[in-house]
Amino acid sequence: MGGSELKRVPYHVGIIMDGNGRWARERGLPRLAGHRAGTENIRRVLEAAAEFGVKVLTLYAFSTENWARPLEEVQGLMRLLRENIDRQLPELHEKGVQIRHSGRLTGIDPELQERIRSAVELTKDNDRIILNVAFNYGGRAEILDAVRRLMEDGVRPDELTEELFSRYLYTGDLPDPDLIIRTGGEYRLSNFLLWQAAYAEYYATPTYWPDFDKEEFRKALEEYARRERRFGRVPTPES
Ligand code: IPE
Ligand code: IPE
Ligand code: MG
Repeated sequence: MGGSELKRVPYHVGIIMDGNGRWARERGLPRLAGHRAGTENIRRVLEAAAEFGVKVLTLYAFSTENWARPLEEVQGLMRLLRENIDRQLPELHEKGVQIRHSGRLTGIDPELQERIRSAVELTKDNDRIILNVAFNYGGRAEILDAVRRLMEDGVRPDELTEELFSRYLYTGDLPDPDLIIRTGGEYRLSNFLLWQAAYAEYYATPTYWPDFDKEEFRKALEEYARRERRFGRVPTPES
């Protein structure tokens, strides 16, 4: 089943994939087993997104704050990304997925950096869906990085517009997210897409990320379709 019954599908969806640790703990498993299950789930949700007609899916996979976790967990998360690129890249490419990265490459192991770069390069002409992976991503770091580059480019204060500033963000030419989903039951942004989410609709579910399946996704999209986006204007009259 596709997304034909949804009357309005968001173009860009961002997901804060939270709850892997609790998913594992409830099963008496180590946290990393939760991350593994969470990583497996990406495939399923990506496929569902493409079927629903979503054009850009930004997944929050590792925040600049997540470096503060125990070394073993951080290393495990890095390893999972590497394994995942190695294992899934050919299939993603074949399915027409364009991979992008939002975040700082510096700080990531050079070998992993290289894999990320080549995945982006290999898939850059694909156009079925964009999978934008927010990895070593922080909204504040992103804003500072943008300001630094603006200054380096010698942009004058009177030249600066919201549109120009947006282009200096990691997300560059991508449109702002229409919908932000957070799994795992918390109600916060945790430094995700601070600038870009200014007018995104927000949806939170208690479901842990490894359990967030196509039906859960559909519920979020149905809720989105019922929302009225006003962008500061007065409500549109009932017709
Ligand atoms: C989200 O799951 C994945 C990352 C932040 C990398 P968590 O690891 O935060 O899971 P909980 O919140 O502890 O359940
Ligand atoms: C947000 O989850 C980051 C990612 C999903 C990558 P966290 O689990 O790190 O967020 P907090 O610590 O609960 O705010
Ligand atoms: Mg968490």
